[in-house]
Amino acid sequence: MTSISKNSADNITEEYRILHKVAQILQSSGELENILQNALRAITGFEELKVENKAGIFLVDESQKVLRLFTTFGEFSKEFIEKEKEVPFGDCLCGRVAESGQMLMSESCFSDPRHERTFSDMTAHGHYIIPLKSSDKLVGVMFLYTNTNPDWYKHSQEVLVSIGGLIANAIEKKKVDDELEQYRSHLENLVKLRTGELTNANAQLLGEVESHKKTQDELRQLSIQTEKIREEEKCEISRKVHDELGQLLTAMKMDLLQLDKRLPKEDVELHQRADSVVSLIDDTIKSVQGIAMELRPPILDAFGLCEAIAWQADEYKKRYGIQFDINCFQKHMELEKDLEIALFRIFQESITNVVRHAEATQVKIKVSLENDQLVMKIQDNGVGIQKDKIEDSNSIGLIGIRERIRSWNGEVQISGETGQGTRVEIRIPITKS
Ligand SMILES: Nc1ncnc2c1ncn2[C@@H]1O[C@H](COP(=O)(O)OP(=O)(O)OP(=O)(O)O)[C@@H](O)[C@H]1O
Ligand SMILES: [Mg+2]
Repeated sequence: MTSISKNSADNITEEYRILHKVAQILQSSGELENILQNALRAITGFEELKVENKAGIFLVDESQKVLRLFTTFGEFSKEFIEKEKEVPFGDCLCGRVAESGQMLMSESCFSDPRHERTFSDMTAHGHYIIPLKSSDKLVGVMFLYTNTNPDWYKHSQEVLVSIGGLIANAIEKKKVDDELEQYRSHLENLVKLRTGELTNANAQLLGEVESHKKTQDELRQLSIQTEKIREEEKCEISRKVHDELGQLLTAMKMDLLQLDKRLPKEDVELHQRADSVVSLIDDTIKSVQGIAMELRPPILDAFGLCEAIAWQADEYKKRYGIQFDINCFQKHMELEKDLEIALFRIFQESITNVVRHAEATQVKIKVSLENDQLVMKIQDNGVGIQKDKIEDSNSIGLIGIRERIRSWNGEVQISGETGQGTRVEIRIPITKS
C-alpha cells in the first residue's frame, strides 16, 4: 500500500512537472513551429509515458475538413511527410480523432484496423492520438509514437488531454496575435499611405501657393512697368507739346508782329485783327503750357515731390479757392523717381476728388517718414465719403490709387465721416539704402 501511494504521489509530481514545463514552453515567444517542437521534445521526454522520440502535430482546416501536417519531431521518412501532408477527417487514427474529438490509443499499427494508412518503411508501433481543443473548438491533433502493445500510462491519461488543451490555446493565441499583427501592419501601411498622400497634397498646395505668389509678383511687375511706360509717354508728349508746339507758336507770334509792322498804318481794322490774332496765339501758348504741365509737371522732375505738391496745390487754390495746409518731410528725402511720380498722381487724384465730391474748403496734406514707412495723409473738411463708395467696384479712381500702392507693396486706408470730411492714408515700406 505504502509503495503504491508513494508511486502515485511521485506520478502526480511528475505530471505537475511536465504540465508546468509544457505551459512554460508554450508561453515563450518566437515562431509557433519552434515552440511546438520544443513542446513535443518535452512531452516525449516525459519518461513515465514511455513514448518514443517521435511525434507530430496536425492543424485543422475546418472548411476543407482535413488535417494538415504542421510539424514533426523525431525521424520521419520523406514518404511519411509527403503522404501525411493532408489527412481527411475520419481517415486513419488522426482523422478519427479529428471527427470524434476524443483521445485515442492504438496498440499496434499492424493489428489495429483503424490504422488505414501504411508506409513502405513502417515498423510496428503504437500511438497516443490527442485532440488539441481550445474551449471545445478543435484546432489540431497531436500524435505520439509508442512501442507496440505499450504499457499504457495508466495513472492519468487526462494529463495528455490537458497538455492538448494547452497546446490548442497556444495555437489559437498565436493565430489571434498574427491576425492582430497583420491588422496592425495594415493600419500602419494605411497611415503611411495617407501620410504620403497628405504630404503630396501639401506639396502640391505649396506649389500652387508659390505659383500664385509668382503670378502676383509678375502682375505687380507688369503694373509697375505699364505705369512707367505711361509716365514716360506723358513726359515725352509733355516735352514735345511744350517745346515744339510752344516754339512754333512763339515763332508764329514773332512773324505776325513783323507782319503787323509792315501793314499800312492807316488800315486800323487790319491792325486790330493782327492784334487779336497775337493775343489768340498768346492764349494758345498758355494753354499749351498748361497741357504740358498737366501731363507732367517739370517741377516734379526738377525739384521733387514736395515742390510739385506745393505747386499743384497753389494751382487748385487759384482755381477753386481751396486752402491747403501742407507738411511735406521735415528733412529732405531722396525718393525713387517712379515712387515720386506715383505719390504725386495719388495726390492729384485725391485732390480732384475733393474738388469734385467733397465741397471742402480746406485740405491738410502730410508726407512723412514713420519708422521704415513712407506715409502720405490727405484729409479734407468736406461732406465725407460714403462707406459703400470706398469698396465699390465702380470707384475706378480709388481702385487706381490702390493699384499704384500695391505695386509698391504698400497699403491704403480710406475713411469718411458724414460732415467731417474724408481721409486718405497710404503707407509704403521703404528700404533705406
Ligand atoms: N474726398 C471725397 N469726399 C467725398 N466723397 C468722395 C471723396 N472722394 C471720393 N468720393 C466718393 O467716392 C466715389 C468714388 O471715387 P472715385 O475717385 O473712385 O470715382 P470718381 O471720382 O467718381 O470718378 P473718377 O473715376 O473720374 O475718379 C466718388 O464718386 C464719390 O462719391
Ligand atoms: Mg476720382
